[in-house]
Amino acid sequence: MITSSPKVLLAALLLVSPLAQAAAPRPIPLLPPEEAAAAEADYQRYCALCHGPDRAGHANDHAPSLKSRSLLSTAFPWLLRESIAYGRPGTPMGGYLDEVGGPMSMAEVRRMMLWLHEKGGSPEPLRLGSDRVAGDVQAGAAVYGQYCASCHGEQGEGITGTALGNPAMLATTPDPFLRHAIEHGRDGTPMEGFAGTLSPTQMDDVTAFLRSRATGWNAEPRPLVPPPALADAVLNPEGEAPAFEFKNGHYITAADLDRILKEKRRFVLLDTRVASMWQLAHIKGSVPIPYYSDREAVVAALPTDGTWIISYCECPRAAADSVNKWLREKGFTNTAVLWEGIGGWVALGYPTTVGRAEP
Ligand code: HEC
Ligand code: HEC
Repeated sequence: MITSSPKVLLAALLLVSPLAQAAAPRPIPLLPPEEAAAAEADYQRYCALCHGPDRAGHANDHAPSLKSRSLLSTAFPWLLRESIAYGRPGTPMGGYLDEVGGPMSMAEVRRMMLWLHEKGGSPEPLRLGSDRVAGDVQAGAAVYGQYCASCHGEQGEGITGTALGNPAMLATTPDPFLRHAIEHGRDGTPMEGFAGTLSPTQMDDVTAFLRSRATGWNAEPRPLVPPPALADAVLNPEGEAPAFEFKNGHYITAADLDRILKEKRRFVLLDTRVASMWQLAHIKGSVPIPYYSDREAVVAALPTDGTWIISYCECPRAAADSVNKWLREKGFTNTAVLWEGIGGWVALGYPTTVGRAEP
C-alpha cells in the first residue's frame, strides 16, 4: 500500500484531476515521512542516473533540472505526472508507468510527483491555463534559428536543451507552459529567460512555431508483450564467440554488432533502458535489463562461462555504462557497450523491432 492515509490519497487524487486545475488553490498535502522516504528511494534508483542525485539535472543525457521553480510551478501536477508516466518517446526519457512497461504503479508516479514538488520548496502552482498562444509561425522560425537552435537543435531534436520538436513533448505541454519557459527560463540551468532579449511578440511567434512542429502520431497503439526471460537470453547458443575490436576502451561499434548478429555468434544482448522503451523499439534479440534492475538476480541468471554480454541504451551511454560497470565488478570480463547507442544504431540505418523479440 503506497498511501497510508486515506486523506492524503484523496487529496492526491483531487490534485491530479484536470478539474482541480480550475478550482481555487487548495493546500497541497505533505507526504508522510515514510512516503517521502519511499519516493526518495525510487528517485535515487530510477531517476538520479540522468537527473542527478540532487535533482539539478544534466548528470547524463542532458536531462533537465527537476528542481527548477520555473518548472515545478508550471508543470505541477499533471505535466510532471504525464512526463514521468509516459515519458518522451524519441528522447532518453522513457515512461515509468507499469501500463507502458515501466516499473512504477500510478500511485508511485503520483508520489514521485508530490515528492519532487515538495523537495523543490513547494512553489505555488501557476494557473497558466491552456489557451493557444497566437503568433506568426514564419517569424517564429527565424527567431528559433537565431536564438534557440544552437541548444535545442535545428529540427528541435534536442542537443544540450530539451527536444522541443518532440511530438510527445508538444502533446503534453500547452502553449502557455512553453511561453512561460521561454520568458522566464529555468532557474539554475543553462536555459536563461528571454524577457528583455526578445519582445513579447517574438516570444509568441517562437511559441507558435514550436506548436507548428506537433506532428507525428501516425503509429497504431500496440499491446504490451511480456519480455523474454533472462534465462533464455543467450543468442545462438550453438554459435561461436563473437570477434571484434574494442573502440575507446569497452565499446563495440554498431557495424560490429550488426555483423556479429548476422554471423549468428553466441552472446547476450541487454537493453538497459527503462523497460517501456524496449516495448517501443529495441534491437532484435535483446532482453530488457534496465539500469535499476536487481543486480543479484541479474548476475544469478547470466551465463558465467565467458559468454559475451553486450549492453546498449539511448545515446550517449549512461545506463549501459552503469550496467557494464557493475557486471565487471561482479567478475564478468567479456562485456561491451554499444558505442553509438540505439539512437545511433537507428540513425545509421540498422533495424529495430517492437514488442516481443523473435529470436
Ligand atoms: C536515461 C536518462 C533519464 C532517466 C533515467 C530519467 N529521465 Fe527524465 N528526462 C530525461 C531527458 C533527456 C528528458 C528531456 C526529454 C526531452 O528532451 O523532452 C527528461 C525529462 C523529464 C521530465 C520533463 C521535465 C521538463 O523540463 O519538461 C520529467 C518530469 C522527468 N524527466 C522526470 C523523471 C523522473 C521522475 C525519472 C525517474 C522516475 C526520470 N525522469 C528518469 C532523461 C532521463
Ligand atoms: C544556452 C542553451 C539554450 C538556449 C540558447 C535556449 N535554451 Fe531552452 N533550454 C535549454 C536547456 C538546457 C533547457 C532545460 C533546462 C532544465 O534543465 O530544466 C531548456 C528548456 C527549455 C524549455 C522548457 C522545456 C520543458 O520541457 O520544460 C523551453 C520551452 C525552451 N527551453 C525554449 C527555448 C526557446 C524557444 C529558445 C530560444 C528563444 C531557447 N529555449 C534557447 C537550453 C537553451
